[in-house]
Amino acid sequence: MRVFITRNIPDVGPAKLRATGWEIDQWQSDDVIPRASLLEKVHGADAVLSLLTERIDAELLDAAGPQLKVVANLAVGFDNFVVGEMTKRHVIGTNTPDVLTDTTADLAWALLMATARMLPQAQKYVHDGKWTTWGPLLFRGQDIHHATLGLIGVGRIGAAMARRASGFEMKVVYYDAYRRQDLEDKYGYHYASSVEEVLHQADFVSVHTPYMPETHHLIDADRLKLMKSTAILINSARGPIVDPKALYDALRNGTIWAAGLDVTSPEPIHMDDPLLTLDNCLIVPHIASASMKTRDNMSELAADNIINVLTHKAPKTPVNKDAVVAQGLG
Ligand code: GLV
Repeated sequence: MRVFITRNIPDVGPAKLRATGWEIDQWQSDDVIPRASLLEKVHGADAVLSLLTERIDAELLDAAGPQLKVVANLAVGFDNFVVGEMTKRHVIGTNTPDVLTDTTADLAWALLMATARMLPQAQKYVHDGKWTTWGPLLFRGQDIHHATLGLIGVGRIGAAMARRASGFEMKVVYYDAYRRQDLEDKYGYHYASSVEEVLHQADFVSVHTPYMPETHHLIDADRLKLMKSTAILINSARGPIVDPKALYDALRNGTIWAAGLDVTSPEPIHMDDPLLTLDNCLIVPHIASASMKTRDNMSELAADNIINVLTHKAPKTPVNKDAVVAQGLG
């Protein structure tokens, strides 16, 4: 068996793969593998351990060849997979859900707190030597406690975000295509009948939907106008869910108060992107799942998915069950 790993990743997973005795080839770099090298390297592979920077499409699947059985993404999101093409060829795709849920929600929460209380601006102020006295007008932010948290999408990560709100005695309002009566009954969350209703009510809006054609620019100029002028938008899902030009205008014109982004469109953000000129827009480089433990767990889960498929067992976390059935594994 031959496995190709597309980047340097925590070694837990690669070590487990090497222990099988199979041929394990890894792109030894912290940078994205050039597409031409990727197409060359996947040739003849039985499994590929990919990152969200690699598009797994017809071209790549053809370059790999018909022996390819599984592509294991080191991410919960898999918008880099052209799932239809994979399934058509009976190639199983897997992702890394659950192991990163809490770590991702922690970061989204950190963005919420940092933007609400203006931590980046305050740190810069100290570093710039501007702190001369205690100031009653200095860095007055927005209260988090007893405010309303609005969630767009209440899957695993959205629900973890909501759980964190209870310590702040916040009201939680959510919109999701699937109504979560269980969460409403257990925690008293309020269902909103539309995205608009969440935007209208919330002091903090946190986006937790997958990226797909239906969620492209879900948060656009018209929807940003529905938010309170004191409200804060948090995006730890995928950059293109928010229209970046509309967000710039909204932040600059005071339509909304601040934004905290773990993801941008494009990624990485261009250094001349106007969002970088705004001090009410906190941007970090897509690090929501980046804790030592969680990245180890993601690496191990991706490797386990490959090992299972290549030893004729059902993968732990497939994204296209039809391909699992087609391979006779489920
Ligand atoms: C990261 O963005 C992921 O989808 O895991």
